[in-house]
Amino acid sequence: MSRQITLALSKGRILEATLPLLAAAGIEPEVDPGKSRKLVFETNRPGLRLLVIRASDVPTFVAYGAADIGISGKDVLIEHGGADLYEPLDLGIACCKLMTAGLPGAMDAAGHRPLRVATKYVETTRAYFSRLGRQVEIIKLYGSMELAPLVGLADVIVDLVDTGNTLRANGLEPFEVIEDISARLVVNKAAQKMKHAEIGELIELFDPAAGGLS
Ligand code: ADP
Ligand code: PRP
Ligand code: MG
Repeated sequence: MSRQITLALSKGRILEATLPLLAAAGIEPEVDPGKSRKLVFETNRPGLRLLVIRASDVPTFVAYGAADIGISGKDVLIEHGGADLYEPLDLGIACCKLMTAGLPGAMDAAGHRPLRVATKYVETTRAYFSRLGRQVEIIKLYGSMELAPLVGLADVIVDLVDTGNTLRANGLEPFEVIEDISARLVVNKAAQKMKHAEIGELIELFDPAAGGLS
């Protein structure tokens, strides 16, 4: 008998890109998760249910085993730390870049005081500037980071860039790429052992070339 598998999906942009992948894999939720207020969805695949949760919470649900497997942005995984999860597959969706950006010349504007950096990626930002040997003061924000340099809250930002439209619309320039970002499949370490066959089958459904985890 096959064991129950819980798959945690990131709502928002990643969910929109995930729904076609599920459809291509033949997985049909009981109702459209993009339209329903439900948080748990049974599917046509016996034993497989879906959770739809905030993108930044997916690694936590999977790490604690509340979900066996999840779909999460690499940006969220890096910020989470990720050591407690397996990451077997790059799904190649929700692609963008994690970058530094600001008004022209902003990287040099701070002079001898620490550079002020606004971001929601506090740990990633700390690690990045520490690798560069650059002193920073990090200001935690939850969105609209592009506003910070415009109103003197920060010298630069660390945020996601895709088309560059948001930067351009606010007169900001992209500086350095910190990481290439896409959505990844992540797996709970205990579930990988206990539900090896079921999880391997799911990974193969998402990418037949992956052939499941060894
Ligand atoms: P949030 O409320 O957390 O910002 P989103 O719906 O914007 O939720 O989705 C967040 C995830 O989608 C990010 O963690 C990242 O992996 C991906 N993402 C965010 N912005 C973009 C973008 N402009 N282009 C492509 N992928 C993005
Ligand atoms: C994301 C990101 C940037 C923008 C980049 O914001 O934080 O602001 O997209 O995409 P672009 O380069 O194509 O303009 P989002 O739209 O997700 O807004 P929010 O997370 O602040 O709600
Ligand atoms: Mg967003």
